[in-house]
Amino acid sequence: MHESPLLPVMIVDDETHLRITAAQTLTLAGYAPQVFESAEQALDALPHHFPGVVVSDIRMPGMDGMALLHEIKRRDPTLPVILITGHGDISTAVEAMRAGAWDFLEKPFAGEQLLDVVRRGIEKRQLSLENTRLKAELEAQQAALGPRLVGRTPVISHLAAMIQRISQVETDVLLFGETGTGKDLVARAIHERSARRNHPFMAINCGAVPEHTIESELFGHERGAFTGAVERRIGKFEHANGGTVFLDEIESMPPALQVKLLRVLQERSVERLGANETIALDIRVIAATKVDLKVAADEGRFREDLYYRLDVVTLPLPALRERREDIPLLFQHFAVVAANRSGLEAPTLDNHAVATLLAHDWPGNVRELRNLAERYVLLGAAFDYRLDVLLAGETASIEEPTLPRQVELFEKSLISQSLARHQGRVIDVCRHLGLPRKTFYDKLKKHGLSAEDYRHSSDP
Ligand SMILES: Nc1ncnc2c1ncn2[C@@H]1O[C@H](COP(=O)(O)OP(=O)(O)OP(=O)(O)O)[C@@H](O)[C@H]1O
Ligand SMILES: [Mg+2]
Repeated sequence: MHESPLLPVMIVDDETHLRITAAQTLTLAGYAPQVFESAEQALDALPHHFPGVVVSDIRMPGMDGMALLHEIKRRDPTLPVILITGHGDISTAVEAMRAGAWDFLEKPFAGEQLLDVVRRGIEKRQLSLENTRLKAELEAQQAALGPRLVGRTPVISHLAAMIQRISQVETDVLLFGETGTGKDLVARAIHERSARRNHPFMAINCGAVPEHTIESELFGHERGAFTGAVERRIGKFEHANGGTVFLDEIESMPPALQVKLLRVLQERSVERLGANETIALDIRVIAATKVDLKVAADEGRFREDLYYRLDVVTLPLPALRERREDIPLLFQHFAVVAANRSGLEAPTLDNHAVATLLAHDWPGNVRELRNLAERYVLLGAAFDYRLDVLLAGETASIEEPTLPRQVELFEKSLISQSLARHQGRVIDVCRHLGLPRKTFYDKLKKHGLSAEDYRHSSDP
């Protein structure tokens, strides 16, 4: 979220006294109140993407609060409008909420009440603006190539700067970070920003290739080099010539191969198994590890000389819990991506949801967060957008729902989102989903949904 020091709050009221007190209260709480005597003046002054909220009296000479609300909703549906109603005037309050008011204040109200509703409104506003901005950014980015590093914390800015710098020079790199912190992403980012981008990016998982084949995978072999070598094989290093080799999980490389790798790194050449010929290599090596190789070397689990050779440039990737401020942004980023991909709306997060995200420890780091955000978009409606429920399922690794169950939940989500979008208008929902009425009603029943519940949703 942007660190704008003073967030604006528009106060619209024909009563001088109320304008003055409200402005004082807001100023003392660190907001920047802007006061207007009439709805017309407020509308004239309302900029695009106004970052704050509007608090307006309902009863005013000229344009009244309801009309102001309608006009604002027309221009900017997610801008929270708080209406001030007369004491005990429940029917007006209800009407205001139905017309899309974010909340209402009943006269006379205490400063605390005003601050509370303004604070919540502004938080919501910031999230919607953030969502809009992300969506725009995402669209602009669709054309731009390469993976993107999301985050605004200093560690991430620093990492981005390092990636940029390293991509422009010829050096091997060691990436060090827990699972899901982005080692793969960073390796590809370095490659794609470098002059090698039009040559191969060859990823090798040193932990996944069986020990007896990894050698020929990496270095290749000549025909007849060993029993079963019926044909010549070009190794990955040779294949990657001109490009980048990504050695993932380098910590699990067998000791015998560590020696060979060291030689490749030092001599920049490779020999196929069973060949005498030496092939010159022009590659950048990026290695990734989840364990501290220094410790592994000290404990004799990793060759010390190889460790020193790799440690020339080390990029540590922070765990997500070490940069919690990025969590809401990342979550929304992944939610918007998932929503765009499946033609759904990205739901905004309320404060409770944000608090839930911030409190979690994220042992699976960004990957875990991305999975959660995707499930939230695809299945969230079926869980009433209860993040704590989705998250509990994730960490306790409750059994994944079966495929039919997931499909069912997804269908429920789609219908519920469409109902919300069309405010429960069955005709529009049927058209939007391409469903005959009868089928639609059957599905409502099956999912325990009611169009009625979406009729007066005030918060699009
Ligand atoms: N800073 C980031 N911004 C955006 N996406 C990120 C970021 N970091 C990680 N990701 C995403 O999180 C997921 C996991 O990242 P990645 O596969 O690079 O992690 P890793 O460190 O290689 O994990 P592992 O050790 O388990 O292989 C990917 O989808 C990646 O795109
Ligand atoms: Mg990885």
